[in-house]
Amino acid sequence: MTRIAIMIENPANRRILTETLGDRHKLLFCDGSTVELALQPDVIILDGPSHRKCAPRLKSWRQTAFPAVIPVMLIASSAAASLAAHQLWEDIEDVIHVPIQKAELLARVNNLMKLRALSLEQASRSDSLAVNNRLLEEEVCRKTAALKESFLESVYLLLKAAEYRDEETGNHIERSGHYCKYLASAVGADRNFQETIFVAGPMHDVGKIGIPDAILLKPGRLDQHEWQIMRSHCELGERLLASGTSPYLAMGVEVAGGHHEHWDGSGYPRAIAGEAIPLSARIMALADIYDALRSRRPYKQPMDHATAVALILKGDGRVLPDHFDPTILDAFRREAGTFEQIYATFS
Ligand SMILES: [Fe+2]
Ligand SMILES: [Fe+2]
Repeated sequence: MTRIAIMIENPANRRILTETLGDRHKLLFCDGSTVELALQPDVIILDGPSHRKCAPRLKSWRQTAFPAVIPVMLIASSAAASLAAHQLWEDIEDVIHVPIQKAELLARVNNLMKLRALSLEQASRSDSLAVNNRLLEEEVCRKTAALKESFLESVYLLLKAAEYRDEETGNHIERSGHYCKYLASAVGADRNFQETIFVAGPMHDVGKIGIPDAILLKPGRLDQHEWQIMRSHCELGERLLASGTSPYLAMGVEVAGGHHEHWDGSGYPRAIAGEAIPLSARIMALADIYDALRSRRPYKQPMDHATAVALILKGDGRVLPDHFDPTILDAFRREAGTFEQIYATFS
């Protein structure tokens, strides 16, 4: 049964409404102050005087209390009165003039009920649409995260496969990601960059997969020719990673190609200098040296943390402070303790 809230001061109009609508609908007679209490009316009918009293409050209540429209019909004593009411409250759905004709009243109330039903249906549809959209969004996020995880897993497996041949480097791959991410945050790179370099940094030596064992695992120092081959791991790695399309691989190309370049232009393979070297590669260059100094290699003993830091900051003839981006070197000087922690945690 439709619930109709009625705010009418004129007794003759109240009587006509009761006679016409009383046996078909639940009529809730109220004044402007109690319409909210009329337990969710489906339709509101009011006349000019009650309208003027409660229009502003009723309007905001109607807008916020329910997602669906509660249609309002005004009983107007004249065309001028209905115009004045519209100016007060543009949202009135219908107007009926006195003297009220029963057939007209029935037809108009029927239309308002249809409007109410349509509006309720639409509200419930948009509610379930919102719920569906949210569920869909959550599902997409879950799937994207799972996809990213399996992508990263595959990348790590490939890097591990490359590392197996060079196993004395230990967990160099894991540590590289952590050093890079930490340095990136210390020089103010944004979170996205930090997350990307965490994955891309460890790709820097992937080109070593193309270096023959006799050179990669040689227990003594490399001769000139062997060095040439060893140095080609940068461009080999670049070419390998360049076939991918993800942002991780794109940064992987930068670090693989640029991690042996020096800030002063004395590095390889292209001997580029300063900011011509991508930031990711400049960061990886420092991380790589620190980890290389700390690690045992076929041709050298591992170095303790303090000695490695001092060597990087002061240089030893082969490694020079000028090799590094001064901002990154500064960050390293400030945060060297964290490098020690990372080395200890993943050694
Ligand atoms: Fe390298
Ligand atoms: Fe490395």
